[in-house]
Amino acid sequence: MKKPANNKKKKKTSSLLNKSRGCSPSEPGEFYISEATVSYGNNVKKPFTVYYDNPEPSIRLLKGDCIEILNQARENSVDMIFADPPYFLSNGGITCHAGKMVSVNKGAWDKSKGVIENHKFILEWLKACQRVLKPNGTIWVSGTTHIIYSIGFAMQELGYKILNDIVWYKRNAPPNLSCRYFTHSTEIVLWAAKNQKSKHCFNYPLMKEMNQGKQMRNVWEISAPQSEEKKFGKHPTQKPVDLLTRLILASTKEGDLVLDPFCGSSTTGVAAISLNRKYVGIDLEEDYLKVSVKRLEEAAANKEAKLFIAGKVAGL
Ligand SMILES: C[S@@+](CC[C@H](N)C(=O)[O-])C[C@H]1O[C@@H](n2cnc3c(N)ncnc32)[C@H](O)[C@@H]1O
Repeated sequence: MKKPANNKKKKKTSSLLNKSRGCSPSEPGEFYISEATVSYGNNVKKPFTVYYDNPEPSIRLLKGDCIEILNQARENSVDMIFADPPYFLSNGGITCHAGKMVSVNKGAWDKSKGVIENHKFILEWLKACQRVLKPNGTIWVSGTTHIIYSIGFAMQELGYKILNDIVWYKRNAPPNLSCRYFTHSTEIVLWAAKNQKSKHCFNYPLMKEMNQGKQMRNVWEISAPQSEEKKFGKHPTQKPVDLLTRLILASTKEGDLVLDPFCGSSTTGVAAISLNRKYVGIDLEEDYLKVSVKRLEEAAANKEAKLFIAGKVAGL
């Protein structure tokens, strides 16, 4: 008589787990890298610096080329990657910023080297990311029409499993000055698992709850970052914290390691630290890393303050 009751219990537990597939506790193995790490693949050690290291709450910023750094890092060590790579837009065109016509010049890192070379670069960094992802890890990559097809193709060439294409709609997008095209007001964020066998983490019930009890769709309306998010300095292509918060909540759990290979001002890190995830950010440019440090220290302090208040409320 006891057996059927036991079976019932098992069924209920497993159906709950199925709703958040793949979000079981992390396998051990940390992303490990130091200036002394032996180079992966050959014996030449490539230079980079640990720019900022704060073990509590686990923030690490590395200055250097992300491909070289990732190729020296430990394999299968990262739970989730968000990559906001160069879109190769800074080629002398014009755009509208704060109501004014300005030239699109984000920096040397954003200059196009031509379709073939750009695709080679995309293949190289996506391959380096795939190597460090854990077997069930996932990657999100943002882009516009300038790179997103190359990214999708490269993902297929490398054997990633494409899970979703999120359409990020920006209601406050600037107007098109030439009046010869529709106003650009969306970006795509591709979501992919390491390979076809991956059992990726998807926090389905939470996404449904955040969408007033209805299944969340792949069109997300989120405003471009407001001035409060730029108070420590501006990055020319800064992403909104709200976008990163949703991506991290959808695909990771507390304690997971989140990596951003093109971190800029570390929007990914601000969201990750606020949500009790570990963070590693990589960028070439010191000016952006300086902004990153200020934003991350504020996020860490806010988290501390919240814990302190929670402790007081609980009478600790
Ligand atoms: C599109 S921006 C990222 C902005 C970021 N998501 C934010 O919210 O601030 C791309 C960043 O990648 C950096 N970058 C470009 N090529 C790189 C490379 N090979 N390795 C590391 N960083 C690189 C640039 O310095 C730039 O800050």
